[in-house]
Amino acid sequence: MPTLNQHDHTNQKSTSWTSDAVEALLSQMTLLEKIAQMTQVEKNSVLPGDVAHFGLGSVLSGGGGNPDPNTPATWRAMVEGFQQEALRSRLGIPLLYGSDGVHGHSNVVGATIFPHNIGLGCTRDPDLLRRIARVTALECVATGVRWDFAPAVSIPRDIRWGRTFEGYSQDSSVVCELAEAFVEGLKGEGWNSATAVLPSVKHFIADGATRWGSSMRVNALQLEVDQTLANAQTDQGLAALMEKGAWQLDQGASTLEEEVLRREDLAGYIAAIRAGALNVMVSYSSWQGIRMHQHRYLLTDVLKGELGFQGFLVSDWEGVQQISSDFYSSVVASINAGMDMVMVPFDYKAFIAALFEAVSRGDVALERIDDAVRRILHVKEALGLFQNPLTDGTLLGQVGCPEHRTVAQEAVRKSQVLLKNDGVLPLERGTRMLVAGKAAHDIGMQCGGWTISWMGQAGPITSGTTILEGIRATAEDPSLIVYHPNGNVDADAGQFEVGLVVIAEEPYAEGMGDRADLSLNPEHLALLEQVRAKCAKMIVLIVSGRPLVLPEALEGWDALVASWLPGTEGAGIADVLYGIYPFSGKLSFHWPRSMADLPLSPSSQALFDLGFGLSLERNA
Ligand code: GLC
Repeated sequence: MPTLNQHDHTNQKSTSWTSDAVEALLSQMTLLEKIAQMTQVEKNSVLPGDVAHFGLGSVLSGGGGNPDPNTPATWRAMVEGFQQEALRSRLGIPLLYGSDGVHGHSNVVGATIFPHNIGLGCTRDPDLLRRIARVTALECVATGVRWDFAPAVSIPRDIRWGRTFEGYSQDSSVVCELAEAFVEGLKGEGWNSATAVLPSVKHFIADGATRWGSSMRVNALQLEVDQTLANAQTDQGLAALMEKGAWQLDQGASTLEEEVLRREDLAGYIAAIRAGALNVMVSYSSWQGIRMHQHRYLLTDVLKGELGFQGFLVSDWEGVQQISSDFYSSVVASINAGMDMVMVPFDYKAFIAALFEAVSRGDVALERIDDAVRRILHVKEALGLFQNPLTDGTLLGQVGCPEHRTVAQEAVRKSQVLLKNDGVLPLERGTRMLVAGKAAHDIGMQCGGWTISWMGQAGPITSGTTILEGIRATAEDPSLIVYHPNGNVDADAGQFEVGLVVIAEEPYAEGMGDRADLSLNPEHLALLEQVRAKCAKMIVLIVSGRPLVLPEALEGWDALVASWLPGTEGAGIADVLYGIYPFSGKLSFHWPRSMADLPLSPSSQALFDLGFGLSLERNA
């Protein structure tokens, strides 16, 4: 029977934890220690010493939960600090540190940032997803992080949703194939290998099936926080964003038929569990009138019962608090429904006290607590955390390394979808071209949400190559490429053979990105007009987290490319524009013809169907 203190790294005891070890540990834990293992706190809210004092099970970085300064080394020091504290708790149970590596280790400045899932869905390349996940795992582990809140296996049915880009596809079979590959990539050689990272398959379930206007983000405190974030990260306040539709869909209500939910939404979880996934994050949304965070039928009877899921469930950020205004009863309802760990993430003492009281009063059975803690400890055992709670610091040099960025550039070019080409593509390297649109030369805009900060933001927020830089590096002579964000170059610049316009969405995350209107805005249309008048041929790139509603005839557009949110390696776009690599991307979402089509129904006549994508032959 292994001794409890497995943390003497000098001898690297090869003790392998078995369920006997978990049972032995469980039998020594007080009720408070058990509840502490079920508690996840965000890193700015845990008082120094409390990880050790309570024996907290997990600490996380929410979107933008970064050390200051934000570097791989400071990340590692932060995460290791929490882990060292956990090892000083009475039983020395290592903690799990979690972060949203949803398109690379995307909170960390200097990390390799991949295209968001909507672009990866267009690659239809599971091997690539496996390699992306492996790179993500290496960059997470380098900073001490062993839990990645990804992949999302959402089926975004209404693309007005601000989380559309977090979904691989509206086709469940594409989601299954890519999610399975991503989980395998995070696992690597095995969960207990030193560079394995625990995925969190999310958000269970039917998070992308909510109805417009049904969002239940009614928590005044959360909206206050959103206001602060909106003011800090965008040039418009929360009221302006809500005018545009923010928080109308996300965290809303779904009435999807159970047969459809099982066929389409549950499939991604089955695929991920088949690949060995040991954690699922629960959705804020509700199904058939019951919030997922207290949905006993789906959390316990279906996921844990029918599917035999052996891992643990984690709530979403303040997801338990959204159940009702009475915190105590919300905690009771969620834990009894099958929640195993609660992403509180702020007032952990109130949560611990509430759950302790609930067990003491018999409102939550001790067996339920033991089941939750057993699941959490098994996952920590499976990850080898008891033997190796600290990760290998020599990996730090790999964060954002050229080899990793090469994988990301491959992902960028494979995610590009050619929707129209009247022959202007592929470009000759000697082509003189006007490039317009601020997103042509803006790392923050090409990365989108969940990058360095929660919502992401325009500007040089991290290292990488912009779309323009990639084009200039590929052109015969950089001086052939004239850039102006608004396209209004001087008349003496004369006419251009080709104009390239980058039309982009401002970065957003979650419900902040819900939009009532996905049509091009007046600035977009003015930019297109400006450039059209100055060039013989015009190429349009759409840098967005979802299909946008375009002028139907695409009048005067000689080529159209869906570039999605490519991440830090913008050069991948030049690779296909100049024909160095072929266009191979195929739409993984239906592209609506008009706003009237949304949410798209099977009968809607899309402008471009899911599966469409040209190679380089001219289209009819
Ligand atoms: C957020 C998101 C979830 C994320 C979590 C931690 O609210 O819903 O996807 O993993 O909180 O940042």
